[in-house]
Amino acid sequence: MANVAAPKIGPVILLGPPGAGKGTQSKRIVEHYGIPQISTGDLLRDHVKRDTDLGRKAKGFLAQGKLAPDELLYGIVADRLKLPDCERGYILDGFPRTAAQAAWLDDYLGHEFFDKSETWAPVVIRMDVDYTQLLLRLTGRRTCATCGRIYNLHFQPPRVDELCDLDGSKLIQRNDDRDEVIRPRLAAYEIQTKPVAAYYQAQGRLIPLNADRPMDAVTADIFNVIDSHAAERTVSGTAKSE
Ligand code: AP5
Repeated sequence: MANVAAPKIGPVILLGPPGAGKGTQSKRIVEHYGIPQISTGDLLRDHVKRDTDLGRKAKGFLAQGKLAPDELLYGIVADRLKLPDCERGYILDGFPRTAAQAAWLDDYLGHEFFDKSETWAPVVIRMDVDYTQLLLRLTGRRTCATCGRIYNLHFQPPRVDELCDLDGSKLIQRNDDRDEVIRPRLAAYEIQTKPVAAYYQAQGRLIPLNADRPMDAVTADIFNVIDSHAAERTVSGTAKSE
């Protein structure tokens, strides 16, 4: 059952290159604020795994480190945002990733969201990390196949080699974390996703954040940003109802 007393957080967009820490920080936001993580990468990988029609269309793009076509994303994002657990807010991890996706999202939130009387403009946090560090993060990443916990062989290794600390499951390397796929992914970010930051910057909504620091420091900054936006929403909501 929804916690009616819990504050509304609204949409939180984590923007950043592959390996910036979007997934890692999303999991901490989920735990702290009780809002869901919507990772379009995870949704697409799930379709590929289940061999759905959409998964078959997306598979080749993911394997080559290219972005899937915009049209494949709109339906899965819209369906996910309609679920009741998104009512207090949600984290978009990996979406929008093109200027067209950003425009689609604004249009969607303007027309479809639960409570149109409130300001539901997303908080957009761009996580900036040095290129060499990104390569280390991606090549060293391992994920628990059972619980999804993320590790890194260089920075955050499991206690026992290749096994999850929480459930002992074998850690796996993502198919697109191979050197030959990492580079096209980083190139796609430069060419297709950087304009998304420009789109939000032009609206005065972009919050750049140095994510090239220890995880806890990055988390603290993200929580501060979310808290101050949630407080602003509360104030403007109160002002409106007076
Ligand atoms: P997606 O799954 O979204 O991958 P990505 O954006 O490439 O991001 P990653 O998941 O690789 O990195 P992350 O930022 O989450 O980093 P993480 O926290 O894991 O997309 C995959 C593919 O799906 C795309 O290439 C595309 O084909 C398709 N796709 C998805 N969305 C799409 C869309 N909207 N449109 C079109 N196509 C789409 O961290 C990485 C590592 O670093 C971990 O090992 C972690 O432990 C470590 N780490 C994290 N933070 C720190 C820190 N502060 N210090 C040290 N290590 C750290």
